[in-house]
Amino acid sequence: MQAWVIGNWKQNPATSDDVDVLLNDLCAAISDIEQVSKDSSARCQLMIAPSLVHLAAVSSRLKATSVLCAGQDVSAHSASTGAYTGECSAQQVVDAGATWTILGHSERRQYHQESNDTLLQKMTHALTQGLGVVFCIGETQAQYDGNQTLTVIDNQLAVVKAFIAEQPELIDSLPTCLIIAYEPVWAIGTGKVPTVTEVSATHQHIKQTLAGFADSLSTMTVLYGGSVNANNANSFAADPMIDGALVGGASLKADSFLTIATAFSQASI
Ligand code: 13P
Repeated sequence: MQAWVIGNWKQNPATSDDVDVLLNDLCAAISDIEQVSKDSSARCQLMIAPSLVHLAAVSSRLKATSVLCAGQDVSAHSASTGAYTGECSAQQVVDAGATWTILGHSERRQYHQESNDTLLQKMTHALTQGLGVVFCIGETQAQYDGNQTLTVIDNQLAVVKAFIAEQPELIDSLPTCLIIAYEPVWAIGTGKVPTVTEVSATHQHIKQTLAGFADSLSTMTVLYGGSVNANNANSFAADPMIDGALVGGASLKADSFLTIATAFSQASI
């Protein structure tokens, strides 16, 4: 199965000059990865999700590479245009050069109170505008401590179930345009990670739940995110239930991003 390693740059870097420096390093690193992939027949799709203000520049720069570009969010209000100050639509994200978008990141759920209803609207706008969706789910520390992980995840995956109910004609295309990213909130930016066994069991639950929604969803890609770094990537990559990584902090340095990508690239041979 093809692995995916996605860099979520969040609200970084601070300036266009800093973006250029990171892109210079990345493009050099990426040509190394592409060499590794060619040599080993490994398959690892890379993707970068810069801030919206940097999206057009980053996508234009990455056009010459195999690396895809993603937004970090789209407007729930309209798929195209409208009087929604401060918002950016799925159509505009596509126009800026992205082919995917992250949705439902825990930081958006936390700071913008994104509900399942809101996320269903965003998912519908993104997918109907031809944007693939990296849909983030995961439990908080308190929910983890209370053994509620699977209940929380089931509730968050209800968005996918509702989407299928509304757009049944799109079910068969979902494995190629919807990726689930399991990101325990307590592991994001903390250096704390669940064990690979825990992640593997949770991914198995996610895959079984999706397959229960529709037979065609039995091949969905499920990524792990939360303090993935150059040192622990190999252990996650070695587990067949973990199809790749959504990387925050470690994606802001080309060398650590390269190391993570190489780990998944080699594990997918
Ligand atoms: P870190 O890799 O910095 O923990 O962030 C993970 C994340 O939130 C990616 O979306």
